[in-house]
Amino acid sequence: MAILVTGGAGYIGSHTCLELLNAGHEVIVVDNLSNSSIESLRRVSELTGKTIKFYQVDLLNKEKLDTVFGQNNIEAVIHFAGLKAVGESVEIPLFYYHNNIGGTIILCEVMKKYGIKRMVFSSSATVYGMSETTPITENSPLSATNPYGRSKLIIEEILNDLYVSDNSWSIAVLRYFNPIGAHKSGRIGEDPNGVPNNLMPYISQVAVGRLKELSVYGNDYLTLDGTGVRDYIHVEDLARGHLKALKKIMADSGVEAYNLGTGQGYSVLEMVSAFERVSGKLVPYRIRDRRPGDIGICYSDPTKAERELGWVAEKGIEEMCLDAWRWQLSNPNGYQELSNTSSEFENPRLIVM
Ligand code: NAD
Ligand code: WQD
Repeated sequence: MAILVTGGAGYIGSHTCLELLNAGHEVIVVDNLSNSSIESLRRVSELTGKTIKFYQVDLLNKEKLDTVFGQNNIEAVIHFAGLKAVGESVEIPLFYYHNNIGGTIILCEVMKKYGIKRMVFSSSATVYGMSETTPITENSPLSATNPYGRSKLIIEEILNDLYVSDNSWSIAVLRYFNPIGAHKSGRIGEDPNGVPNNLMPYISQVAVGRLKELSVYGNDYLTLDGTGVRDYIHVEDLARGHLKALKKIMADSGVEAYNLGTGQGYSVLEMVSAFERVSGKLVPYRIRDRRPGDIGICYSDPTKAERELGWVAEKGIEEMCLDAWRWQLSNPNGYQELSNTSSEFENPRLIVM
């Protein structure tokens, strides 16, 4: 029996595939490579010494997705595939709704056809919108401030409706806070397209000399140093959270949301200092205006995940920064130079279907 990982070539997906393989699961990946490189999966199979079956398939292509289910004995799906750039979602909302919501509906239809009703879904702390109370629990009010966030919120509602219609579905909705860091080997990590929107990849690219200086968006929030506070979580902790959620959905039916965060907030300037400490590099920065749509403080109450999944985040910010730095140093241009079709890097354990 295999686990199907949609979006498995991406940042969080590749780290989760690695954990799944190390735990002895059979892994099948479906990804259209719109925001990733197959090189991440080659490296995952190298690191684990295990086989991955890969389908370059778009979730919107129902016929091809059906073939994937027809050819394999799938027991559950971990669904990462989606577009995630907040700013881009404001510019091309229809594309975001079509891809994220449309892709999820097609996936659920095919799952239903094959009688596979277990899913772990990648949601986001973005579903809490401009939440003013911290820490944020799963019962905090939900809202969306941009089309990306709204696509997550709508998908959560669709999954709830699906369960109401058929109580044999078993779905874990994981609301990630701010995933950062990389696998400790430095072989896989976050590889954003173009200039990063998120803080940590921006800091690493400044430290490695790819970007000149960091813009710190606002120093007049009601925080210890005035800069925005977030709940950064190591991507390896996050990946482990998916295995715990998988165990839960194999045992119980239902639909439940879980915050995956550390429960601890750090400011932008604290992150800059931590990064400078572990890398020994200076990260020049300039204070700019607040970024529209940002909130001052956002961190999780992760106790539900601890209580019901037996999961807690273990890694602190220094380890997050160190691992992000190791990845950045050994891959200054990410996976960029490596073509998605290059045979030079062929790995017999990556079976490309
Ligand atoms: P990512 O872009 O690295 O991975 C997403 C993967 O999905 C990519 O490999 C992309 O090629 C693939 N994909 C997109 N649309 C597809 C489609 N229609 N068919 C097939 N494949 C498709 O992003 P990530 O950071 O690994 O995020 C994974 C999931 O977690 C996403 O759903 C994202 O919204 C969510 N999330 C991410 C963060 C974050 O900060 N990274 C935070 C909260 C939630
Ligand atoms: C963190 C802090 C910024 C960049 C976003 C999405 C959210 C989720 C995670 C997917 C804030 C500050 C940032 C920079 C800065 N993604 N910052 N200079 O905004 O918490 O969340 O990513 O679901 O949906 O909105 O993360 O990393 O962009 O920002 O000062 O160049 O760093 O103002 O305080 P955010 P972020």
